[in-house]
Amino acid sequence: MKYTQATADHLSEIEAINEIIDYGNPESFMKEEIAAGRVIVAVDGAEDEVIGYGLYQVIWGNNPFLALVKVKPPHQRQKIGTNLVSEIEKKLKKEGFKKLLSSCELDNRVSVDFQKSLGFEPGGSIEMVHGWERFFIKDIK
Ligand SMILES: CC(C)(COP(=O)(O)OP(=O)(O)OC[C@H]1O[C@@H](n2cnc3c(N)ncnc32)[C@H](O)[C@@H]1OP(=O)(O)O)[C@@H](O)C(=O)NCCC(=O)NCCS
Repeated sequence: MKYTQATADHLSEIEAINEIIDYGNPESFMKEEIAAGRVIVAVDGAEDEVIGYGLYQVIWGNNPFLALVKVKPPHQRQKIGTNLVSEIEKKLKKEGFKKLLSSCELDNRVSVDFQKSLGFEPGGSIEMVHGWERFFIKDIK
């Protein structure tokens, strides 16, 4: 598996993942985030297929936030999500960031377990447009 910064060439495959795991992320959003260099893809070396991606944003220009991690269902539970986050952390560390925020829907048990496994500590929850969202924070090591 290769972990690399996404380019415009990966957009259609990222969009295909968004159709399977649909959080209503518009194509224009994905396009902008790829252009900004904030999307990391996991690419299967043999098939050259995009298996998953991670996307971060930087709130207020100084608080990195892990916005999305998606791994195609047949490839889940093989540490691809963990490696995507680790690649994002490496990049953020080089840029001098010390902490990473994340969040998930309060009742998304898989995501809560995933974030805890990555070393995120739970923070508070707030009611968003779609329902309750729980926030997490971790040190970038
Ligand atoms: C959450 C998600 C990204 C995890 O990716 P993944 O590659 O399957 O995760 P990993 O293999 O790196 O899992 C690391 C750890 O997270 C936890 N975890 C992951 N999937 C889990 C599941 N289905 N049930 C319980 N714990 C889970 C486990 O602790 C796991 O370690 P283990 O397999 O040694 O027990 C993936 O399930 C996914 O794409 N889900 C749909 C989208 C989503 O909810 N994204 C997160 C919020 S944006």
